Amino acid sequence: MSTPAPSLMDKIVSLCKRRGFVFPSSEIYGGIGNTYDYGPLGVELKRRVKDAWWTRMVTLRDDIVGLDSAIIQNPKTWETSGHVSNFTDPMVDCKKCKGRFRADKLDDARCPEKPSKKPGECGGELTEAREFNLMFKTNVGPVEGSGSVAYLRPETAQGIFLNFKNVLESSRVKPPFGIAQIGKSFRNEITPGNFVFRTREFEQAEMEFFIPPEQNDQWYAYWVNERFSWYVDYGIDPSKLRKYEHPQAKLAHYCKACTDVEYEYPFGWGELEGIACRTDFDLKSHSAASGKDLAYFDPESKARYTPWVVEPAAGVDRTALTFLIDAYEEQVLPDGDVRTVLHFHPEIAPITVAVLPLVKKEGMPEKASEVDRMLRQARFTTFYDESAAIGRRYRRQDEVGTPYCVTIDGETLKSDIVTVRHRDSMAQESVKVADLEAYLRAAMRSWKRPTK
Ligand code: GAP
Repeated sequence: MSTPAPSLMDKIVSLCKRRGFVFPSSEIYGGIGNTYDYGPLGVELKRRVKDAWWTRMVTLRDDIVGLDSAIIQNPKTWETSGHVSNFTDPMVDCKKCKGRFRADKLDDARCPEKPSKKPGECGGELTEAREFNLMFKTNVGPVEGSGSVAYLRPETAQGIFLNFKNVLESSRVKPPFGIAQIGKSFRNEITPGNFVFRTREFEQAEMEFFIPPEQNDQWYAYWVNERFSWYVDYGIDPSKLRKYEHPQAKLAHYCKACTDVEYEYPFGWGELEGIACRTDFDLKSHSAASGKDLAYFDPESKARYTPWVVEPAAGVDRTALTFLIDAYEEQVLPDGDVRTVLHFHPEIAPITVAVLPLVKKEGMPEKASEVDRMLRQARFTTFYDESAAIGRRYRRQDEVGTPYCVTIDGETLKSDIVTVRHRDSMAQESVKVADLEAYLRAAMRSWKRPTK
C-alpha cells in the first residue's frame, strides 16, 4: 500500500517543527496533548502579529488605550460574567474507549482507538450529553477549599470591564473610546485540535469599545469592516476570508449581534475572530454585583448612562497559524525545481533581512557582519548566514518567509554595493550600503501580495 501524500496541514506542522516555529510542548516527557511551545521563529511571528494588531488598534489611534490585567481575578468576576454557569460545552463519553467528545461536534471528533474512527464506531456506547465547564480551576493561597477557589481567565475581556472606571478616571478618555489588551487565556477544551487552531492555553487580542448606546449599529458595522480589512492589509488572501453573521438563536448570553471573520482552512471554514455587540451587559452586571457605579456621566450633555460595548476579539495563535497557512506555497520554478516559500507580509515575517557573504573568505564575512550590525542598529530583525552555497541559503530563507536577502560579494568590497534579492519575485537589485536602510523600508512599504 502506498503512503498517502502529506496534507497541507501535515506540511505546515512539519515545517514549524523543523525550522523552529512551533514544537510540541514537554516533548521529552512524551508531550501533553495539544499543547505547543513557540520556538525562535514562532516567537518572532507571534510578536509581529501582536505588534501589527497593537499598532493598528492603539498606536495609530487617539481613541483606544491599553491594559494588562491579571490572569487570576476575584472569582466573583466569573460568577457575574456568567462564565461559572454558562461557559460550558455539551460533552459525551464513550463507555468502551473512554474517549470524551463534544456532543455538538461529533462529526469533527476522532476516537482514540487506532485506526482512528468516529466516536462510537469503536463499538462503544456514548453517554447522554452533560454540560462541562471550560474554566480551569485553581486554588489561591496555601489552603485548598471552596473559599480559595479561583479560575484562570477564559477571556481577557473581563479584566477590561473591571478596570473601566480606573481607566476612565485616569486617562482623560470619554465614550466612544476603547481599551485593548493582549494576553493569555485558558479553556479546558474537550476536543482541542488542528495544531494551534484550538488549544487549552492561547493568547487573545481583545478590545472593548465603549459607546453611547445609540451609536451601536454604526460602530458594530465599523469594527466588522475594520477588522476584516486588517487581515487583508497584512496580506491574507481575501478570497479565503468571509464574514459570518451569527443567527440570533445561537448568540452567547451577553450578545445582541455577532459577526465572525472566517478563514477557509485546509480543514474547512473556521472562526478567526469574532466581533460582538455586548450591549451594557457586562458593565451593568459588574455594577450590580460589586455595588460600584460603572455608569458614565457626560459633562457636556449632562447625561448619565452605561455605555454599550462593541468587542473585536481575535486569537493571536490562530492568526499566526492563518498567516502560515495562507503564506505557504510550493512553487514550481522554470527549471522544474520546486521551492517552498512563505509569502509573509514583510511586517509579519519573523526575519526581515538575511545577510549573506557570497563566500567565506576575502573579507566578505567581516563586511557582511558590519552590514548585519548596521541593520540591527536600525532595528531590522536580521539573520546572518555564511554556510552552504548561496542558492541553498536563499531557499532556506524562502522557507521561513524572509522577504529580503542582502548578499555581500566582491562588488561590495570594491564599491560598497550589495545585492538585494527579493523573496517573492526572486529579482535581484544592486543597492549602495549607505542607501540600504531606506531601500528596505521603501520595499516593505510598497510590498504587494503576489498571486500564487
Ligand atoms: N471575549 C470574547 C471571546 O473570548 P471567543 O470567540 O470565545 O470570544 C475570541 O474568542 C478568539 O479567541 C477566537 O476568535 C479565536 O481566535 C481565539 N480562541 C478562542 N478559543 C481558542 C482556543 N481554544 N484556542 C486558540 N484560540 C482560541
